[in-house]
Amino acid sequence: MKKIPIGKPFFDKREISEVRKVLEEGNLTNSSFKGGSKVREVESMMHKFVGTKHAVALNSGTAALHAALLALGIGKGDEVLLPSFTFLATANVVVVTGATPVFVDIKKDDYTMDPDDLEEKITENSKVVIPVHLYGHIADMRRIKNIADKNFLHVVEDACQSLGSTFNGKQTGSFGDMGCFSFYASKVITSGEGGVITTNNKELADRIRMIRNHGILEGYDIKIPGLNLRMTEICAAIAKIQMEKVKKILQIRRKNANALTRMLEGLDITLPKEDNNSNYNWYLYTIAMKNRDMVTKKLNSVGIGATVYYKTPIHKTSLYSIYGASVPNTEWAADHVLSLPVHPSVSVKNVNYIADTIRKTLGSKQ
Ligand SMILES: Cc1ncc(COP(=O)(O)O)c(C=O)c1O
Repeated sequence: MKKIPIGKPFFDKREISEVRKVLEEGNLTNSSFKGGSKVREVESMMHKFVGTKHAVALNSGTAALHAALLALGIGKGDEVLLPSFTFLATANVVVVTGATPVFVDIKKDDYTMDPDDLEEKITENSKVVIPVHLYGHIADMRRIKNIADKNFLHVVEDACQSLGSTFNGKQTGSFGDMGCFSFYASKVITSGEGGVITTNNKELADRIRMIRNHGILEGYDIKIPGLNLRMTEICAAIAKIQMEKVKKILQIRRKNANALTRMLEGLDITLPKEDNNSNYNWYLYTIAMKNRDMVTKKLNSVGIGATVYYKTPIHKTSLYSIYGASVPNTEWAADHVLSLPVHPSVSVKNVNYIADTIRKTLGSKQ
């Protein structure tokens, strides 16, 4: 059987022909406040899909998170609350602004931020909370928003992994002040590198448009500190076609995830589960188990790209160990979780093979 990677872009001729058009026209990028025509098309598709008034395209999910914090004026002396169980970009954007990261624990049932622990870790210096919709699971936005409102905190959703996940029919990225998405190569849709911020706040959207373009509104007059965080027209051309396919992509992911759940039920494994109000995008199908490392080794040895996100929680890396963190569920998760491929190029045969391999591996050990 051919290798089954953990992620794979879902491309066809349409992406190629859209990129060709950009190359033929020669407008590779656009440094105006509003951006190029493809960038504007992607922004329009994203704000409609997510259900916010505005969307601003940037050149990565990291850039989106960074610009969101800059737009809120976060810096030295401010504390930003975030999980340690996430991709390290979520924390890196905090320290590069000069602010201090404060690590909040996760819930064991879905690996997203624990609102009780959030409440405990708020101090008078807390300014922003960044819930992460990890694996496409949805952080408890009702409670997190409530706690944030009570404590005058801004909410920046890290929706880099959750494009298409909904709670009560509402898309992730539309609950907080801003939602940050990634179009990195492994993500639900991709432009290679890319990112988007969604928001209902026009003032923030305008600030982000300036921040992505050196802080310029027009001409050569710099209004606020900014960088070059622009999405290219080539990336936007790819993202536009990917957005046209997003519903289909989500359907196939759901079908694969449901099939895996049917086949893995009954084993000594914690399976991912949506509750009645949530719909995951199934970016990753993440299980938890005792013999995680043994099963990973076996799956990898037969070409199945099962991967651990994340073996090292951020607070255990060299840079972040100085901040300290009491996050027992995070440490448990780092030792037990394993993500399986369910992307659109995973066939029914592949799903059977993944499930059979896990069954056989556990069968011989349980
Ligand atoms: C949870 C999370 N946050 C932030 C990022 C950063 O996104 P990017 O790689 O597009 O910069 C990613 C993806 O890589 C992610 O998974």
